[in-house]
Amino acid sequence: MTRITITRPDDWHLHLRDGNHMRAILPDVGRRFARAIVMPNLKPPVTTTQNALAYRERILSALPDGMQFEPLMTLYLTDSTTGDEIRRAKASGVVRAVKYYPAGATTNSESGVSELSKCEDALNAMSECELPLLVHGEVTFPNVDIFDRERIFIDRVLIPVLKKYPKLRVVFEHITTREAVRFVMASPPRVAATITAHHLLLNRNAMFSGGIRPHHFCMPVLKREEDRQALIHAAISGNPKFFLGTDSAPHARDTKEASCGCAGVYTVHAGIELYAEIFGAYNALEKLEGFASVYGPAFYGLPRNTDKITLIKETWDVPKEVPYHKDTLVPFRAGGTVAWRLM
Ligand code: NCD
Ligand code: ZN
Repeated sequence: MTRITITRPDDWHLHLRDGNHMRAILPDVGRRFARAIVMPNLKPPVTTTQNALAYRERILSALPDGMQFEPLMTLYLTDSTTGDEIRRAKASGVVRAVKYYPAGATTNSESGVSELSKCEDALNAMSECELPLLVHGEVTFPNVDIFDRERIFIDRVLIPVLKKYPKLRVVFEHITTREAVRFVMASPPRVAATITAHHLLLNRNAMFSGGIRPHHFCMPVLKREEDRQALIHAAISGNPKFFLGTDSAPHARDTKEASCGCAGVYTVHAGIELYAEIFGAYNALEKLEGFASVYGPAFYGLPRNTDKITLIKETWDVPKEVPYHKDTLVPFRAGGTVAWRLM
């Protein structure tokens, strides 16, 4: 197959940032995706409905003229998020989920949850009003090896929370391990997962090939080849529990190429093309539409997009860097190529 037309996709996990940085990346987003679940880890984080509504307005007014894009907003869960705030969020009609960052797990997670037991009021309200919990699934205990953080999160946090809140809908975000794949497959339909393109395309060797590669550093960190194989198997399986979430997370070049570099990979410039590459390589292009455009809206109870996109198998060059307001940004595959092109 050298050409494929699918329903326009959505991105179920995206970092848009804010202000002029956001303005710099929005064209990449809107060209590909009709909607995206927008992560709330701004500085300061988006912890209230009022903040989420204001952020949404800033996104809409930063869109290039004529670009159709619908931001699906999220709240950043903290130890003090109240049930009332959750009900307000639901009533707003624009907040679609609540994001749980264990404090210290990743970029801008300092205000995250110290212990989920502090969030009973919020979690009960989310169960009642069917607002999904999006989990950054990694424990942050200092004695846990960074490559085991996700695996251990399943037993220590995820299983107990699903048991305690039997109606809570949960998206296990950006899964990276075979254990996570197995867990989601064995869970009831209220549990789903997003998978990034970079975790489908790279294993942890990519962080160290010929030297340290800061542009391949993200959280959760890349894992082993057998984990990558499990993720590919899940993504191309046609199982509706697995859907597209790029976790595209831009950082200015100098903040990644630093003695303590930021976590996050910018992929939305090829946000559907990279998935086409991996699905194509595994002869599974007919499964791309479900993963990219069907299962996400089904989980969130939203309609599918009505327009289409076409991808052709044609190599294009990724620039070495792109402008990012007053900074620059090093996109995934910088200086290399992508095998599929968006028409
Ligand atoms: C994200 C970011 O930069 O905001 N970084 C990342 O490595 N994925 C945060 C996150 O999703 O963990
Ligand atoms: Zn993220």
